Amino acid sequence: MTTTTGQNVQFLADYRPYPFVLSSTRMTFRLSATDTRVLTALSLAPRHPDRPEDLVLDGGKGVRLLSLTIDGAVPDPAHVRREGETLTITAAALPRHSFLLETEVGIDPSANTAFEGLYISNEMFCTQCEAEGFRHITFYPDRPDVMATFHVTIDSDLPVLLSNGNPVGQSQGRAEWHDPWPKPSYLFALVAGDLVAVSDSFTTRSGRKVALNVWVRPGDQDRAGFAMESLIKSMKWDEDVYGREYDLDVFNIVAVDDFNMGAMENKGLNIFNSKLVLASPETATDGDYERIEAVIAHEYFHNWTGNRITCRDWFQLCLKEGLTVFRDQQFTSDMRSAAVKRIEDVQALRARQFREDQGPLAHPPRPDRYEEINNFYTATVYEKGAEVIGMLKRLVGDDGYRRALDLYFNRHDGDAATIEDWLKVFEDATGRDLTQFKRWYTDAGTPRLTMAEDWQPAEAGGTLALTFTQETPATPRQTEKLPRVIPIALGLIGPNGDEVAPTQVLEMTEAKQSFTFDGLGARPVVSVLRGFSAPVILSRRLDDATRAFLLAHDTDPFARWEAGRDLALSALIAASQGQPVTRDYVEAIGRLIADDSADPAFRALCLSLPGEEEIATRLFNQGITPDPDAIHAARESLARDLAETHLDLLSRLYTAMTVEGPYRPDAADAARRSLRNAVLALLTRIDGGERAEVLFGVTGNMTERIAALTALLRRGRGQAELTALHDLFADNRLVMDKWFSVQPMAAPPAQAAQVARSLSQRKDFDWKNPNRFRALIGGLSANHAGFHAADGSGYDFVADWLMRMDPVNPQIAARMSTAFETWTRYDAGRRAKALAALERIAAVQGLSKNTREMVSRMIA
Ligand code: PHE
Ligand code: ZN
Repeated sequence: MTTTTGQNVQFLADYRPYPFVLSSTRMTFRLSATDTRVLTALSLAPRHPDRPEDLVLDGGKGVRLLSLTIDGAVPDPAHVRREGETLTITAAALPRHSFLLETEVGIDPSANTAFEGLYISNEMFCTQCEAEGFRHITFYPDRPDVMATFHVTIDSDLPVLLSNGNPVGQSQGRAEWHDPWPKPSYLFALVAGDLVAVSDSFTTRSGRKVALNVWVRPGDQDRAGFAMESLIKSMKWDEDVYGREYDLDVFNIVAVDDFNMGAMENKGLNIFNSKLVLASPETATDGDYERIEAVIAHEYFHNWTGNRITCRDWFQLCLKEGLTVFRDQQFTSDMRSAAVKRIEDVQALRARQFREDQGPLAHPPRPDRYEEINNFYTATVYEKGAEVIGMLKRLVGDDGYRRALDLYFNRHDGDAATIEDWLKVFEDATGRDLTQFKRWYTDAGTPRLTMAEDWQPAEAGGTLALTFTQETPATPRQTEKLPRVIPIALGLIGPNGDEVAPTQVLEMTEAKQSFTFDGLGARPVVSVLRGFSAPVILSRRLDDATRAFLLAHDTDPFARWEAGRDLALSALIAASQGQPVTRDYVEAIGRLIADDSADPAFRALCLSLPGEEEIATRLFNQGITPDPDAIHAARESLARDLAETHLDLLSRLYTAMTVEGPYRPDAADAARRSLRNAVLALLTRIDGGERAEVLFGVTGNMTERIAALTALLRRGRGQAELTALHDLFADNRLVMDKWFSVQPMAAPPAQAAQVARSLSQRKDFDWKNPNRFRALIGGLSANHAGFHAADGSGYDFVADWLMRMDPVNPQIAARMSTAFETWTRYDAGRRAKALAALERIAAVQGLSKNTREMVSRMIA
């Protein structure tokens, strides 16, 4: 069978500027569900009048051309050519000076199930244009380096009509918007519907009064307040920390139920997946509140890092995404606990990005080739893109970072920029040569860093030599890897637990490099990679007793947590291999959770055992084929051991962490709930489900409800609670998404695929809704031993649904296909079944370019 790919490859090296300059775009939308008319007038001029070129516009298959004029005249049809997804007007038909190109097209939003371009969600018109959705609205140079001011008229009887920029006219059945900031088409947005707003205002520090609105469907207003608070905090923070002010008279946010991603930073009109806007204590968890705050911030921060300075081409995607993730992470650290945020971010990075970087889909933060750009909105571009900036900041210091960012905003405001531009501002602001550092952007793969210690005692003081080696395994199309610059933050801790050397940053640049510390009275314990100073896989020889010592004494919260993590993993790996397990982890964790001076959220993180996939990854990295069932059993038995050993302590903590008073989503209360829920997960393993059942019955908030339900489902119980949740919230889509995801996710592995299959047969499995599809299919994929069931039932179920989704919504099918990205790690039996499932997908006639690219890379 063939899985050929390569016809449609785009290369970074092929970049060339658009041969026309577009100065202004005027559009009129006559909205209709099945036959929307779009009138577009483009003011164009040839970039090189002496070298005439054809004008090539992008335009999807669903765009029907109804008329086209150049300076008001219809060109000879022989000069207008429609081929595939482009419309070409030959140079001979074009003036040598500036001209006006006017088109009218017809499109059918009601037929748009891919949610790219103009579509309808719950009777509301809305758009999604990043990355290449605008070409499904009209013929246009749909690329980020073509920027224009937009003037948009919307004709419709719907009550609320929104677009980018400032409102310049409202009358019955018509609204006009003007966006004075030149922007690329991917930042265009339009919304029309029966919406209501939660409104407020913000006065920028230079005195501009900005009207703020969060638009939702009638009835949802009481769940939009937290989003508004988050927006106001974000606006203030960006002024205080980055000196960035907002630049229009209004800022609108709209919540929609059908959305492929989390949210979108359209200029002045952010569009959000409703799950990242709507929250009430009864329907949203603490985790949801934290994500809402972070994503509202993320999209708002894009106004400068993304919109005012955008990307020259899509290879540069991490220019805006890595930086904006880095900024939203800083924001959350400031709003909540920096230590907890860092640990959560590293956990997510390892679970998603390291997974990607070690498999067939590995690519650099700045790729140099792609087939379908939508497949590159990845953990590598986003989260590793942010890590690389964190390293830069550590290397140049806080002052250097600030100067570089000021220079970036000054120099590139209004530009479509590149990673080269970004690195240059750091070089110019700090004098540092970043030639070698740039490899972090251009090379895929996670470096393996090893540390060896050599201790030489001496009368006057001992010497500790640390020798580091780095090596990056080959990744697709990149076999030779050169050494990278690795900032290694470390500190030294004396035998009595006192820190003898505070954090310093070693700069590793060679494949192998030693650093020496002398004058040491006694051999210290090295606390290395503090704050996870570089996205690498560190290995060092360390016994469990020393890990327990670090867990007790390290002053760096990340390194302290990591020591506990390594202890837990060493116990889990031994158990899954049938080897004897030391008591160090169980005892050390008992001491830590009893320490009431420690942040409950930190204690909760330490108490939550590594997930099964994380254990599988650790085994795989040690050259051992992971056995999902043995891993599941080992984790269950360690959890039980923890619960039995610390029964009294855990019972007391469970009571002590009760949160009194009305629900508040703030970090302090959320921390207590997270510890209490981590304790509950353990106790439910030995109390017959009693506590969880009581909690589910008495609590009014979703954080505790879901925690109790999950704990019960894992034990094969919870049926009554599932019914109760369904009865309470059958009308709430977001809660029902949780209901659909928790069941396959928490089902005992042997039942998981069957649970998912029967849920998929329900009438309310509205699978064309991306959230619902992700809930169920993603829920099963997140059940490690369930998805990787030895009989292949998990693989088959997911493959069946990917094939069904692909013609409807290729972006979603392609993204969810990453469930398979680790398939080569497992035993021959599982590999054969996973490969058969992938080949079944690859064999589909007319498979989308999106899914085809993903599956081909995974099979290759
Ligand atoms: N640019 C959006 C963000 O990160 C993500 C997105 C990409 C949304 C493509 C929709 C489509 O904020
Ligand atoms: Zn973003």
